Formats: sequence, C-alpha cells, structure tokens
Amino acid sequence: MKNVDINSITNAFLNYCSKDTNPRVYFLLKSLVEHIHQFAKQTQLSHEEWMVAIDFLTRAGDITDKERNEFVLLSDTMGLSSLIDMIGSQHSGTPSSVLGPFHINDAPSLPVGGDLAKENEGKCVVLEGYVKNTNGDPIADAELEIWQTANNGLYSNQDDKQREFNLRCSMKVGADGRYAFSTVRPAPYKVPDDGPVGDLLRATGREAWRPSHFHFIVTAKGYRQLVTELFPSDDPYLETDAVFGVREDLILDYREVNELDTLNDDFVAKKRLTAPFLKVDFDIVLVKENGEA
Ligand code: BEZ
Ligand code: FE
Repeated sequence: MKNVDINSITNAFLNYCSKDTNPRVYFLLKSLVEHIHQFAKQTQLSHEEWMVAIDFLTRAGDITDKERNEFVLLSDTMGLSSLIDMIGSQHSGTPSSVLGPFHINDAPSLPVGGDLAKENEGKCVVLEGYVKNTNGDPIADAELEIWQTANNGLYSNQDDKQREFNLRCSMKVGADGRYAFSTVRPAPYKVPDDGPVGDLLRATGREAWRPSHFHFIVTAKGYRQLVTELFPSDDPYLETDAVFGVREDLILDYREVNELDTLNDDFVAKKRLTAPFLKVDFDIVLVKENGEA
C-alpha cells in the first residue's frame, strides 16, 4: 500500500501478513496492533513520548540477564501477569498467584511434619492442610514445592549469608493428602526497584512492597499444576501489593496457639517449639487437568 494514512495503517499492517501465518499468532497480533494503533491515536502520542518508552524498554533490556528479568517485573507491576493468571484460573479450585523470579528447582525434600526453620531465626509458624480435589477427596501423592524469605525479607538466592536452598523444600503427601511443616514467619519485602521499573513505581507514587507470603507449586497426576501464594491477614501491604498477587481466598489468619499438645506427633519440631507459636491451616484444592470437577 503506497498511500498509508492514519486511518488505513492498521489494515495495511494486517494485509502485509502472509496468509500462512499461524491463525492464533495472527489473531493475537491483529488484536495487539489494533490496540496499540488505537492507543497512539487516542493519546495523540508524541514522538518524544514514544522515545521515552523506547528508552525505558532499552534500559529494561540492558538490566535483564539470567538472574533478573526486568520485563517480567514490568509485566508483574503492570498487573498483566496477575491478569493472565486470573484468566487461566476461573474455576472452583484454590486461586493461583504469581510465581515470581526467586523460585529454584530441585529443593531438597522434607517429610510431612518436617522442620524447615533449621538455623533460621524468627517467629515460629506451623502450616498444615490437605491437598484435595473439588469434591473434597484427598489427592494422594501430590507434590508441593514451598519457598519463602527469611525474616530479613530475602530469599536464599538473594542473600550470601543464607545457605543454598535455605527455606525451600519439596514435600510429597501420603494417601491422606496431608502436608505439614514448621518454619519461621517470612517478612514483607520490596521487589527489585533499582532499575527502570523502580523508576516507574516512584514516578507514579507506588510502593515496591509485597506483603509477606509463602510460595507453593502443587503438582499431582491428572490435575492442573497450581502456582500460588499464601498471605497473613495482618500484613500491612495486603492492599498495595506491587504485583497484584493477593486474592481473598489466599489470605489466612496466623492463629496464635498456646497448647503444644494440639500438634500432631509427626511434627519434628514439636519438642523444641515454645508456645505461643503461629498456626496456619490451608487446604489446597486442585482442579482436574481437563477442567472437570
Ligand atoms: C515474588 O513473590 O517472589 C515476586 C513476584 C513478582 C515480582 C517479584 C517478586
Ligand atoms: Fe515472593
């Protein structure tokens, strides 16, 4: 098309695409280009403003490496990661939440009732619950991966003072679907804010804080894998989570418990625990891979 103008450029772009373009790729690209062209027209975007955006993306690229992905952080802080998450998890199971950049594979396994706290200091928390299907039946042999910060708000892969795999484990549940472990209370922390995303947060008067949380990945044969998080109801950052990961069903009370003998005997830490400690009861509901209950 020789004579493109403001009104014809969107169709000109679409007409340039080959008829062999994968239909889903074409569908996504068509909608994306329609939206960004409309955005430029609606906002009367200036060349200078677009150059600021290009510079932002260039700086995001410069800071991105194997350990840190500024584009993922941008998607997280724009709410896009959580939006995509919610689109994919409109069902009756436990809601999903963001994975975040601090997960690492191959964490050591911890038996049900094990103590994750080890040498870590902090308020003792005992977590316990059942992995179930949407009918309430236990899912035998489900596997959990769990990771959290220490009480300084840092993950083991951010902090030279922590050993590799500190406060990380995998746990295989038995026939009853029960998981259980003791640990220390994680702390709220700021998402990395020393790059362009941090500049954007500051420019819009936003917080980089995330409420404290436990991360879970739950896997079981025949069920959709669940990536989720668990938040305490008394955290000061629940209303302003920088990455929009909080969901009502993922907020739980950390109950103060005084009687040690209410704990099941398989808790390895039962002998060293001192009351009061915090108890969290969190059942995890998985949906079938095919979406059925
Ligand atoms: C996290 O929870 O680990 C996280 C999620 C998104 C961005 C940064 C951190
Ligand atoms: Fe996290």
